[in-house]
This record gives sequence, structure tokens and C-alpha cells, in this order.
Amino acid sequence: MADQRFKIVGIAGSLRRASWNRGLLRAAVEGAPDGIEIVTLDLDLVPLYNQDVEDRGDPSSVIALKDVIRLADALLIATPEYNNGMPGVLKNAIDWASRPVAASVLRDKPVVVMGVSPGAGAAARAQQQVRDALIYTGGCVLPEPELLVGAAIGKFDDAGNVTDPELRGQVVDMVTALRDWAERIRMADAQAA
Ligand code: FNR
Repeated sequence: MADQRFKIVGIAGSLRRASWNRGLLRAAVEGAPDGIEIVTLDLDLVPLYNQDVEDRGDPSSVIALKDVIRLADALLIATPEYNNGMPGVLKNAIDWASRPVAASVLRDKPVVVMGVSPGAGAAARAQQQVRDALIYTGGCVLPEPELLVGAAIGKFDDAGNVTDPELRGQVVDMVTALRDWAERIRMADAQAA
């Protein structure tokens, strides 16, 4: 029988092993409600975007990136903030995935963005940049609820796992909101057809 589970791909904008943002994604995987499957995608092997390389054919890591996104029902992105913006590794992955423009795997993809920082800013500016880039590529970005995790020291252990039960619950709420958002989009598309 075909797998009917709702499939989410989680992407973190940090390559750091003990990353808090990767920790948010792990909390999502661990707390995923019944019927929702979440897999995470590492960006370590994605090369810097270069149109000359693209013209010769996507590298294998980019083919894999696009395949995983294409097959997913929705994307869950967790981003830190670097110097008031989204990290280069995340923007780089979005740039690759946005190509070719007319057939981008990001087009019409339901997306939720969340983020964590040790300061009070809660990666809000980075999150907004991610939303702007994904809207530009044709993604369907959930406007709200948002998950802005600021002043996060004490909410994670040394390995980057979420230790704060309230935060774990908030992450799972975002997963549920993403599934509901995707369903609203699917129903709106069906009515329009
Ligand atoms: C940061 N950090 C940071 N934090 C913030 O709130 N606003 C910012 O502009 C920046 N800028 C910044 C630049 C660079 C180059 C680094 C390495 C860090 C701190 C950052 O939020 C913190 O290191 C997070 O813990 C990184 O996320 P991960 O790796 O834990 O997911």
C-alpha cells in the first residue's frame, strides 16, 4: 500500500554539529504527530552556486537536494541569524533549488520558517529574509504562527538538543501548522481546478 504519511523535509541553516537550529529540527522529528514523517537534509555537501557548473549539469549533491525537496509535501526551515541575515549556506541551497525558475522544486511548496538565537533578536531578520527569498521563488510560506526563539541559553543541552519542554511543544505546534497549511493550499487548488 502507498505510504500516505505527510512528508516534511527539515533544513537547517547551520552546519554546526551542536547547532540549536538543527536541534529544533530534531525536536520536530522526535515529536512529529502520527501521520507525519520528517526527514532532515544536510547542506554540507552542496557546493557554492555557480551558473557555469549548473550549465554543465547539476552536481550529484544538488540533484539529491532537488529530489528530496520535490518529493516532500512541505518544508520546515530552521535558521540562525548571521550578521543580521540568513546564513550563506541556506541562501546558497535556496539559490540552487530555485533553478530552473519555471520548474523550481520550491514553486508552490508549503513552507514554515522558524529560528533560534542566543540574543533577544530570535533570528527574526534571518527568518524574514528566508521568507522573502522563498516567496520570490514561488513557495507558499505560512505567514503565521511564527516561532521566534530568543534568549535561548538554557533551552538546549551541549549537543544542541532542546531541553525546554515548552519549546518542544512549540516546535510540534509548528509541524502541525505546516501540515494544516499544506492541506488548506491543497483544498484551495482543488476548488480552483
Ligand atoms: C552570529 N550570531 C548572531 N546572532 C544574532 O542574533 N544576530 C546576528 O546577527 C548574529 N550574527 C552572527 C554571525 C556569525 C558569523 C555567527 C557565527 C554567529 C550568533 C548565532 O545566533 C549563534 O551562534 C547561534 O547559536 C547559531 O545558530 P546554531 O549554529 O546554534 O544553529
